[in-house]
Amino acid sequence: MSKTMDLKQEIRRLAKEKNAVIMAHYYVDGEIQDIADFIGDSLALAQEAAKTDADIIVLCGVHFMGETAAILCPDKKVLIPDPAATCSLAESCPADKFAKFVAEHPDHTVISYVNTTAATKAVTDIVVTSSNARQIVESLPEETPIIFGPDQNLGNYINSITGRNMLLWNGACHVHARFSVEKIIELKKAHPGAKVLVHPECKGPVVKLADKVGSTAALLKYAIADKATEFIVATESGILHEMQKKAPQKTFIPAPPEESFSESGSHTCACNECEYMKMVTLEKLYRCLRDEQPIVTVDPQIARKAIVSINRMLEISSVLGL
Ligand code: 13P
Ligand code: SF4
Repeated sequence: MSKTMDLKQEIRRLAKEKNAVIMAHYYVDGEIQDIADFIGDSLALAQEAAKTDADIIVLCGVHFMGETAAILCPDKKVLIPDPAATCSLAESCPADKFAKFVAEHPDHTVISYVNTTAATKAVTDIVVTSSNARQIVESLPEETPIIFGPDQNLGNYINSITGRNMLLWNGACHVHARFSVEKIIELKKAHPGAKVLVHPECKGPVVKLADKVGSTAALLKYAIADKATEFIVATESGILHEMQKKAPQKTFIPAPPEESFSESGSHTCACNECEYMKMVTLEKLYRCLRDEQPIVTVDPQIARKAIVSINRMLEISSVLGL
């Protein structure tokens, strides 16, 4: 039996024995998605963590996702296979600087994307994800002054579709910010029937090329339901695994980044990967379950404040049926 097969069997055995649930984001490696009990986008992962009755949650994703689960489930053990798996977007919004910005605009309602540290969520009124940002912004009276952070591209997109004029924090995800407009246009020429799917963390000129803009879950749903048979996908390429599984007869083409990484040896495809998400491996997942380490912890004072903004998101999402 291969080492990978052994590892997979051991992971499933340990999960059962320990009443652990393995949750994975669509951006982690396909073999991790395949072994998980639950896969989803950021909103679905938070919703699932909030309602699970497992004793242990293993969050296969980046650190802020583990923090969100730990805040929502203070009585459970939340594990993350690699605690060094950070997020450039969360890092682009240091809590102390964001708190200062918030303090300078005391009349503003503060909306933060879920891709933030717990400390940034603690100075936030309502958390949002790309699945519910539009609806949550629109649920506030039109005249409400809003601070939106940290993703400037998502903020600009929400401003453009809602007609709001939210004050934006200048943060970005390095993966979504580096898609190449020119390369997508070339792909469109080569595949004239292909629909272009774009995550709203991408820059405005890339969003303009889209047939569909949405969160990873929304893009997946669209790809399954739409009549087209070819899709150019401008989000982290891990989502192609689930797209291909759910719609095996269709063709999914990853949109390339500005720079090709193939010569450095770190990338062999022209796709755009988040190196933090790819830090989650079968070996790390196995060790993490076996040793029940590393545990994600959040300072209780920060958690007490952050849970208010996360729960507001979950409540509004539930009322809106999201
Ligand atoms: P969603 O899961 O909300 O689509 O967010 C994408 C992302 O960048 C997660 O890190
Ligand atoms: Fe963060 Fe971007 Fe990676 Fe998502 S894809 S975890 S936003 S760096």
